[in-house]
Amino acid sequence: MTTNTKNKPAVGYSQLSDKEILDMEHAAGAQHYGRIELIVRKTEGCWLYDDKGNKYFDCLAAYSAANQGHHHPKMVQAVKDAVDGQYGSVISNVVYTDSLAMFLDKVSNLVPQLGTRFGANGNKTLPKNGGVESVETAIKLARGYGYKAKNIPDGKQEIIVAGNNFHGRTITVVSFSSAEKYREGFGPLTPGFINVSYGDTDAVKNAITENTCAIMIEPMQGEGGMYIPKEGFLGECRKLADDNELLLIFDEIQVGLGRTGKMFCFEHENVVPDALILGKAISGGLVPLSVMVTNSKLMDWRDARHLIFWLMKTFPVGRLKWARF
Ligand SMILES: Cc1ncc(COP(=O)(O)O)c(C=O)c1O
Repeated sequence: MTTNTKNKPAVGYSQLSDKEILDMEHAAGAQHYGRIELIVRKTEGCWLYDDKGNKYFDCLAAYSAANQGHHHPKMVQAVKDAVDGQYGSVISNVVYTDSLAMFLDKVSNLVPQLGTRFGANGNKTLPKNGGVESVETAIKLARGYGYKAKNIPDGKQEIIVAGNNFHGRTITVVSFSSAEKYREGFGPLTPGFINVSYGDTDAVKNAITENTCAIMIEPMQGEGGMYIPKEGFLGECRKLADDNELLLIFDEIQVGLGRTGKMFCFEHENVVPDALILGKAISGGLVPLSVMVTNSKLMDWRDARHLIFWLMKTFPVGRLKWARF
């Protein structure tokens, strides 16, 4: 039996006991990292509630997906409006929708002009679901740029990444994780990534070859332990990217959108990347959503045939995602 939790903080979605829930999940779910045996029955703002009505201050905020607080009223209303307004949840992307256009416009203009060496063309945004999908998009952007703009033979493109990184869990992305536990047993891994020590400009410089197409880093590391690189590192990467015609890609899935006190983490050092990846808090944790934003010229680089594969994706065209947050 399920119960509406509104005004009943101690009850929750079901009336199952804590033990029943734990047994159920252990029997039917996959194992994760170490977990706390707290059964959350209700969330509200920064608070989590158990079935006794005890409230816990949520310092994790779903690894920053719920930075605005759980069930932020404005975001909940936006999702309700999308559903009540009978927007299709999945619409083929052979047609246009007002909500997608508005969303793309909003995000593209929220981000300062990226890739300034490519001109003041404005930005374009490519949406996906989970964050790692936008990391994959950025990898495609980098490799495609290397192939088309730098004439690197296809299959030889190299991207410089940082030790202690965390960019997600697909096979390609764990291929360049420096944590053995994310890679072990999952080979064959994807080649083309050069791992250097985070914050070490000389290591980045020495890793650059004629096949390098991009440097992709978190401007401040999140999952790896909230590491701030030494002052000047981001600017030095910017200079190396400019001098060697590389793309500088910042993954701000965890540290963007206000998490560090500025809208974007890169604003602390005023170092603007060529492509920016956002996720998590962009939808307040209510729907899976991530984006890669880049200079319009870079987004339009691919020819029309490639463009189809570039954009095709079943779910991100669903209008529910573009609820007017
Ligand atoms: C910096 C960074 N990039 C990418 C990801 C992957 O995002 P997702 O788990 O939504 O695929 C994460 C997730 O924690 C992250 O912190």
